[in-house]
Amino acid sequence: MNADFQDVVRRRRSVRRFEAGRSVDRAALQRIVDAGRWAPSGANVQCFDFIVVDEPAMRDAVTEVFLRQAQRLVDHAKGFPAVKKSYLANTVAIVLVLGDPRWKVCFPQPTSPDWEREYLDNNQAIFLCSLGAAVQNVQLAVAAEGLTSAWLSGGGEEITNRELSDLLGYPDWMRAYGTVPIGYPTEEEHRRYRRPLAQCLHWNRYNPEQYRRHAQVDFYESSLRPFAMYRHHEEMAAWPDRAEKLGDWDTAFTGPNPNPGGSLEPAADFSKPRVAGQATKRRQTRADES
Ligand SMILES: Cc1cc2nc3c(=O)[nH]c(=O)nc-3n(C[C@H](O)[C@H](O)[C@H](O)COP(=O)(O)O)c2cc1C
Repeated sequence: MNADFQDVVRRRRSVRRFEAGRSVDRAALQRIVDAGRWAPSGANVQCFDFIVVDEPAMRDAVTEVFLRQAQRLVDHAKGFPAVKKSYLANTVAIVLVLGDPRWKVCFPQPTSPDWEREYLDNNQAIFLCSLGAAVQNVQLAVAAEGLTSAWLSGGGEEITNRELSDLLGYPDWMRAYGTVPIGYPTEEEHRRYRRPLAQCLHWNRYNPEQYRRHAQVDFYESSLRPFAMYRHHEEMAAWPDRAEKLGDWDTAFTGPNPNPGGSLEPAADFSKPRVAGQATKRRQTRADES
C-alpha cells in the first residue's frame, strides 16, 4: 500500500489547539472541499454542500454559536467529556458539511407498509453514512495539506443548527452534521487510542471471542471514555496508570480477545448510560446540585 496514504490516515488526528494568527490560501481550501465532493454517496445523490468560512468576522460568529452549544452540553448532557471550544478562534477556516435530507427519496423506498421498517431506517443510515464519508474526505485532505482539524457534530443538534442556518443563510431543514475547524497544530500530532487490529479484524466470519461484552461498553462509558478520547497513546498498554485505569478490564481492552469462551449476549437497552462509574458519579453530583 502507498505509504503516503497510511501516513495521511494516521495524521488525521482530532487536534483541538491551533496556532494563532495564521492564514491559508483559498486554493488549499478548494482542494480540501474538492476531496469532500469526491466522497461516495448513496445513489450518487451527493446530499451534501460545503460552506467554507474564512472571513474572521464570520468565523468569530460561528465560534460564538459553538461556545453556546458547548455550554448546553455542560448544562444538559452531563458527564460527556467535551473540551472547551474557544480554540475555534484560532482556526484558519471552518468547513461546514450540510446534509440535504430531500435526497433520501432516491434511496430504496418500500412499496407497501409491511416493508417500511426494512427500508426507511436504512435510508437514514445511507444518508448519514454519505455525510460521514464527505466529512472524512475533508479531514483527510486537511491532513494531506499539512494542516489539522477536528470534527464537530454539534451542528446536528436542533438549536445549534437553527443558529447556524440563521447566520449562514441555509434553509433550516438542512443540517450542519459535520463542522470541521481547520488550523495549524500547536502541538505535534500524537497517536490516539485504537483497539488492537487483531481485536476488530475478523477473517471470513465473526469471531465471538472478539466480541465486547455489554459490561465492557458500560465500563468504557462510565470510566474510560475521557482518557481514550484525549490521551496521546495508541495503546492503553502504554498508559503509566494502566493498572489503576483498566483494573479487571485490562485484557479486554489491550488484548486480541475480550471475550474468552465466546458466548454472545442478547440485545440490551443502551439508549442511556446504565451503570455508575467515574463519569456517572460526576453526572449524579451535578444533577444533585442543580
Ligand atoms: C461522527 C463524529 C462526531 C464527532 N463529534 C465531535 C465533537 O462534537 N467534538 C469533538 O471535539 N470531537 C468530535 N469527534 C471526534 C472524536 O472525538 C475523535 O474522532 C475520536 O476521539 C478519536 O480521535 P482522533 O480523531 O484523534 O483519532 C467526532 C467524531 C465523529 C466521527
